[in-house]
Amino acid sequence: MKRIMVTGAVGQIGSELTLALRERYGGDRVVACGRKTRPSDALESSGPFEWADCTDPKRLSEVVTEYEIDTIYHLAAILSAVAEAKPQLAWDVNINGLYNVLEVAREHGCAVFTPSSIGAFGPTTPLDDTPQDTIQRPNTMYGVTKVAGELLCDYYFKRFGVDTRGVRFPGIISNVTLPGGGTTDYAVAIYYAAIEQGRYTCYLKQGTYLDMMYMPDAIKAAIDIMEADPDKLAHRNAFNVTAMSFAPEHIAAEIRKHIPDFEMDHEIDPVRQAIAETWPNKMDDSAARAEWGWEPSYDLTSMTEDMLKVLRSRR
Ligand code: SER
Repeated sequence: MKRIMVTGAVGQIGSELTLALRERYGGDRVVACGRKTRPSDALESSGPFEWADCTDPKRLSEVVTEYEIDTIYHLAAILSAVAEAKPQLAWDVNINGLYNVLEVAREHGCAVFTPSSIGAFGPTTPLDDTPQDTIQRPNTMYGVTKVAGELLCDYYFKRFGVDTRGVRFPGIISNVTLPGGGTTDYAVAIYYAAIEQGRYTCYLKQGTYLDMMYMPDAIKAAIDIMEADPDKLAHRNAFNVTAMSFAPEHIAAEIRKHIPDFEMDHEIDPVRQAIAETWPNKMDDSAARAEWGWEPSYDLTSMTEDMLKVLRSRR
């Protein structure tokens, strides 16, 4: 039975994945780690919580030793838009933080899950049906750190036998914790705005297609890849995974099926628009499907129904 440490446990993915891991492996066996933000009541009451910054290797080692950790879900990271505003910070957290985690894993014999991203692709990558193995020359600091992270994880497996695994997540849509400064955040914000104001001003242009996924599928991917039979994994790290691909006007049209008066206009953010244009329109995730049985449950229609139902029930 696994004993897990989750970095970034208070973030968008961590706050839900930690609870799912506790449900599966037992509350006491999953240590949530945060750096600054106080954990929610649900996170605090369902298992141990520790303050640990991934840029502090000594602290990571203390937590791993104290709880006899054998698996690390390393979710702490700076997202794409913040990384463009603070590239030095992004390098420190996304690269040095990952290096510290991999070193601790090497010393203590832990497996490591690391999310890469659609941000690991760039302007010279084929944007449609983006292959698993293709050109990766991103021109953002986020992308640079994600490609380097993928390579570092491959290296730690090959050189030291660390059981590194991971996926390239698309934009993740969720309703518990807001994402913090990504390019795909509009696809979360639009649902909150639809419920609260009946309208939304989108910072991306019409026609900007991006891969997306609803949180329950992201959680499933993160758990399934770590439970996959290693003999079947030809890639191990950085599997393309996607559930849907759409542009802002498609999500707006889907919301209008439930809120007919919903209106969307656009005020383009040049930074995030430029980032989005270098990311795939739609990834090919057949390697994940073939090697560990990846299959998403939600599409745009079923996700929209669920998001609006959940957000309405909280009003
Ligand atoms: N959701 C992330 C971002 O927009 C992509 O990995 O930065």
